[in-house]
Amino acid sequence: MRDGIIQIGILGAGVVGGGLYQILQKNAEHIEQVAEVGIEVAAVCDIDWERPRDFSVPPDLRTTDAYEVINDPDIDIIVEAIGGSEAALDYVTAAIQAGKSVVTPNKEMIARHGEQILPLAGQHGVDVQFEGSVGGVIPVLRSLKESLASAQIDQIIGIVNGTTNYILTEMTEAGTRFAEVLAAAQREGYAEADPTADIEGTDAVNKLAILAALAFGARVPVEEIYREGISQITPTDIDYARQIGYVIKLLAIGTRDGDQLELRVHPALLPVQHPLAAVRGVFNAIFISGPECGEVMLYGRGAGALPTGTAVAGDVIDCARNIVHGSQGRTPCSCEGEANLRPMGEIESSAYVRMSVTDQPGVLGRIATLLGRESVSIESVIQKSSGNEVAEIVWVMHKGPERHLQAALRAIEKLDVVEQICSVIRVVDE
Ligand code: HSE
Repeated sequence: MRDGIIQIGILGAGVVGGGLYQILQKNAEHIEQVAEVGIEVAAVCDIDWERPRDFSVPPDLRTTDAYEVINDPDIDIIVEAIGGSEAALDYVTAAIQAGKSVVTPNKEMIARHGEQILPLAGQHGVDVQFEGSVGGVIPVLRSLKESLASAQIDQIIGIVNGTTNYILTEMTEAGTRFAEVLAAAQREGYAEADPTADIEGTDAVNKLAILAALAFGARVPVEEIYREGISQITPTDIDYARQIGYVIKLLAIGTRDGDQLELRVHPALLPVQHPLAAVRGVFNAIFISGPECGEVMLYGRGAGALPTGTAVAGDVIDCARNIVHGSQGRTPCSCEGEANLRPMGEIESSAYVRMSVTDQPGVLGRIATLLGRESVSIESVIQKSSGNEVAEIVWVMHKGPERHLQAALRAIEKLDVVEQICSVIRVVDE
C-alpha cells in the first residue's frame, strides 16, 4: 500500500491486462467507492512494449522485469495476465511467497496447478482469485463459491468456448463448412492464429476442470477429462439435427452420479428448446442444476478485453477489500480430494449416427440386428437414397452405455454394405 491506496502490479499488457488497465482508469472513482479504498496501478510488465495496443501505459509504469513488480514492497496485488502455464506458475508462486494476493484469468494454470497454488495461498494468508478464467465476464465461479455454496450441484453444462460456438453458429445459420468459417473467423480476429486449443476442446477441458472443482469439490487431472473437438462436424449433420429438432453445440458437461463424476467435452445434439440452444456466436453460458437450486443459467461474453477485464477487476476489488479488512485467505481450496471419474465407456448417452450404405434390400435390417445384438435400442431412423445406389442413414439411439454403441459400430463398419460411418455425435436430452 502507498498513502492508504492499494497498489497493483499487472503482468502482461495483452488483451485482458489491457482491459483491466482501462477499467481501473475509467471507473477509478466508482471502484474506490465500492471497494472503500483507492486502487492504483503501480507497474505493468510486458516483454514487448513496441507491440501496437489500443491503450497506453505511461512510460514510468512500464517494465519488462516481472520480478521487479512481484518484489516491489509497495505492491499488494499481482494480476497475472500473461497466459500459458509454466512461467505464469513461477510468477504466481513467487507472488504468493512474497505475501501478495493474486488475481489471474489463466484457466490453463489454474486447471493444472490450482491444487498447489490454492493451499500455498492459504499457508501465506493471501487470496488467489480467478473468476476471469471461465466464461469471461460471467460470474460463474463466484456464484458456485458463494451464492450456491449451500447447494448440491448435480450437473453443469456449459458453452464455455466462444470461438467454437461462433463457428458452429455460422455453420448452422449460413450452412458454411467448418474450414471456411474457421478461416473467416481468423481473418476477423474471432479465432486465434493457432486455434487448436479452442477447436479441439482443450480450452473447454481446462474450464470444465475448474468448474468441476468448485461444483463438485473434486480435483480432476485435465488429461483424464474426455475430449472431442468440432473439426469433424459438417453442415450435413447440422441440417439433419435441425430436421429432428436439435442444434449442435460444443458442450462441457459435468455430472455427479452417486460417488462418481462424469466429465466430458464433446459436440452434442441439444434440443432446440434447451436454454443453451439459444446461445449464439461468441457468447458463453453455463447451465447449473441441483435439487435445491433447481436450474440456473448464467450468460454473457466469454472473452474480450473489457468483459474479461471486468471479471478480473471484480477479483481485484475483492482482494483489496480483504486486505483492508485483514480477512485475506478466507477462500482456500475447496477440493476434498481426487475425483472418482466414470470411464467414458460406462457413460450412458443417446447418440446420433450417420452412415452411407449400399442401397439394396436387407441393409437396414442387417444393421439393426447388429445394434440389437449389442443392446443398442433405436429411437428413430431417416433414410435418404442418393440415387446412385448409395443411401444415407441417420439413426438416433436411445440412451445406453457408450461401450455398447461403440461395440455395435465396430461390427457395423465391417459389413460389406456399409461404405462409411460418417458421424457419431452424442445427444444430450436431459
Ligand atoms: N479462447 C477462448 C474462447 C477465450 O474462444 O472462448 C478465452 O478463454
